Amino acid sequence: MLQKMIIKGSKPLAGEITVSGSKNAALPILIASIMAPGRFEFHDVPDLMDIHTTAGLLRELGAEVDHQKTFVVDSTPINNYEASWDLVRKMRASFLIMGALISRFRRARVSLPGGCELGLRPVDQHLKGLQCLGVKISEEHGLVIADAAALRGGKVVFDFPTVGATENLLMAAATAKGETVIQNAAQEPEVVDLARALTAMGAKIEGAGKETIRIQGVESLRPITHTIIPDRIEAGTFMVAAAITGGSIIMKNTPTAMLVSVMEKLAESGVSFQETADGIKVVGPEKIRPVDIKTLPYPGFPTDLQAPMTSLLTIAEGTSIISETIFEKRFAHVAELIRLGADITIDGRSAVIKGTGGLLGAPVMSSDLRNSAALIIAGLAAHGTTEVYRIYHLDRGYERMEAKLALLGADIRRAPQDD
Ligand code: UD1
Repeated sequence: MLQKMIIKGSKPLAGEITVSGSKNAALPILIASIMAPGRFEFHDVPDLMDIHTTAGLLRELGAEVDHQKTFVVDSTPINNYEASWDLVRKMRASFLIMGALISRFRRARVSLPGGCELGLRPVDQHLKGLQCLGVKISEEHGLVIADAAALRGGKVVFDFPTVGATENLLMAAATAKGETVIQNAAQEPEVVDLARALTAMGAKIEGAGKETIRIQGVESLRPITHTIIPDRIEAGTFMVAAAITGGSIIMKNTPTAMLVSVMEKLAESGVSFQETADGIKVVGPEKIRPVDIKTLPYPGFPTDLQAPMTSLLTIAEGTSIISETIFEKRFAHVAELIRLGADITIDGRSAVIKGTGGLLGAPVMSSDLRNSAALIIAGLAAHGTTEVYRIYHLDRGYERMEAKLALLGADIRRAPQDD
């Protein structure tokens, strides 16, 4: 049964929440558990749809998975090298299984993520990188087939920094014979957390978090216990929620060092931050000032917070411009925000947002993970009732978002969606 979120807006948020473990760090690290036989224990894995999909993927390969408070994987019984279309279509990140399978078994069969052909986006960089390590790639019936019998270190120069391809290459290179050098590597904290986990497993990695990463291949890896870093995107989303409602909240477990570009832009818009003994205090201003933002690879402003930020700027006193340089067509939230009374025009890869006096509640439709969060945030500020349809997108990536917002005093509830 489809569900919607019903929000009665214009209430300033107040209170305390705890940021969950990072979805985007957890996904590759859970997948890396297939690289060594044995029992892995992961802490602070968020309880989300994408994590359930990952558990399904690991089980499909033969692993035993138990996700209670701790996420436990026993990867000893893995006996399958194929990730089916059913799982890859649910979550593009399933493609990360490629590097992990190659590392442990020297072969993999992984469905192509939807709507792309071999050699074209969105996995061309993954495949190019693997080929630099001697992996033979072919395609059959929508599956990418990797033969890595001749896996060895190599030099990989990405055309542009990509998070997923950097992670796939880190895993494949961990047990390749000799040295791998990755240039133009993604520097996101989630890549660093994966490198930290792989290093604890016995991999030899230098430079994670920098443009060039060096990996000395090792013979074999061992199981680990690992705690996932906090979710910087969830944290940023709650900062924006506090800002748009003119609220004052305290956030625990907040990775402020990973949010420098976000907090700078929020500060420019009038938000104030204060480190307290309990966590970071975020205070929204009475009037939001307009700011210009360009999404960029880390440490630049994250594309995953572009949609929530757009919601905030709809009520700024003046005009803001947001340029999206990472993903094309990531402006699906704009048409819905306009339904709430926002004044936004799209000009190529930029959105020009003219602040209005306020938003008015209406039914809106979410169409991806981050824009569903943006619409809920807009609903928190809008006068009257906003209903956000197709909320399953939100459940892919935000752990108990409405419970956390309710804890902060928001009037928000989930209800069945009739059609
Ligand atoms: C990851 C995050 C996602 C975030 C994104 C950018 C996970 C599970 N997801 O996605 O939330 O929005 O980083 O910070 O961690 N591209 C190619 N060819 C490739 C690979 C990527 O053209 O082989 C393009 C993509 O289409 C996109 C851009 O490069 O336009 C960035 O993609 P990438 O950094 O790889 O993002 P993901 O790893 O998919």
